[in-house]
Amino acid sequence: MKHIAIYITLLSIYLPSYSQSNSSIVPGKVWLDNNSVAINAHGGNVIFYKKKYYWYGEHKIEGKSEAQLADGGIHCYSSKDLMNWQDEGIVLPVIYTDTTSDLAYGCILERPKVLYDRKQQLFIAHFKYYPRGTGYLKGYIGVATSKKPNGTFTFKHKFLGANSEYGSGDFAMFKNTDNNAYHLTVRKPDKTFVIGKLQDDKMLPTTNYQVAKGITARTEAPAIILHNNQYFLIGSGSTGFLPNVARAFVANALDGTFTNLGNPCIGKNPHNGIGADTTFGAQINYILKVEGKTNAYIAMFDIWQPDMPIKAYTYGYHWYLKMVYHK
Ligand code: DGJ
Repeated sequence: MKHIAIYITLLSIYLPSYSQSNSSIVPGKVWLDNNSVAINAHGGNVIFYKKKYYWYGEHKIEGKSEAQLADGGIHCYSSKDLMNWQDEGIVLPVIYTDTTSDLAYGCILERPKVLYDRKQQLFIAHFKYYPRGTGYLKGYIGVATSKKPNGTFTFKHKFLGANSEYGSGDFAMFKNTDNNAYHLTVRKPDKTFVIGKLQDDKMLPTTNYQVAKGITARTEAPAIILHNNQYFLIGSGSTGFLPNVARAFVANALDGTFTNLGNPCIGKNPHNGIGADTTFGAQINYILKVEGKTNAYIAMFDIWQPDMPIKAYTYGYHWYLKMVYHK
């Protein structure tokens, strides 16, 4: 059988520089924004819109995030070159002044993914959402929208996906070439990996979820790309914030059978000495296609520190695709 093996290594990525100071992405190092403040955007994603990249993620606040509740909301940064990021501020804030608000402090808002819907000219943020005081039993997807990439986003509603009354956990929202969006997620409570189509406006799921054939149960933090007509998915195991061994899969169609490619990581993180067997101490959150380049992707990871979340940081590894043919 033919397949592509994927290797993620800790190479620095050199890209053409524009202004500011960074001339490369240095994996494993704290990444500073245009104000020389550490980029604070965890578990998120990056989109490309009108010649700029927008990076969205969870904002952590010292002394608050230790409770593992949402505290800042969704933070956004923009960049023309992927190395130098401008702070665009918090685009979906947690509300501290109104306990009845959907985003009242005490809710959990994690792993946001923003997509742009051309038809509606709308930026749609989906995120793991647990309303204030409800705990982790039912995993909703929260939905917020904005007319502009840098917000402000307005909370619209929540839904329980995966055709389960307990909803879902970690997820990817994948916009296919036909502009349809798919919700790839670990179903609650049994942790089976399922894939479902969203409705046309991407605000709600259809009931059309299927078990993803070949994807190991308890696969969390899924990140997916379409490369040469094949879907590559990388995820983590299910150990909360603790690092575990990454796993990669490939399929010819989202409703096809995924082949397990094993651990896509090789080497060691020179900054913490942790090897590929625990994903360099990190957990994947997104795979970004570099615009204007062929076969260039950046896999983005978080090194979590739940006891000290403000010290957690997000960074890119260089991911190159190496062709290996098996007969
Ligand atoms: C599991 C996820 O994989 C982590 O990234 C994080 O969101 C934790 N859940 C939170 O408990």
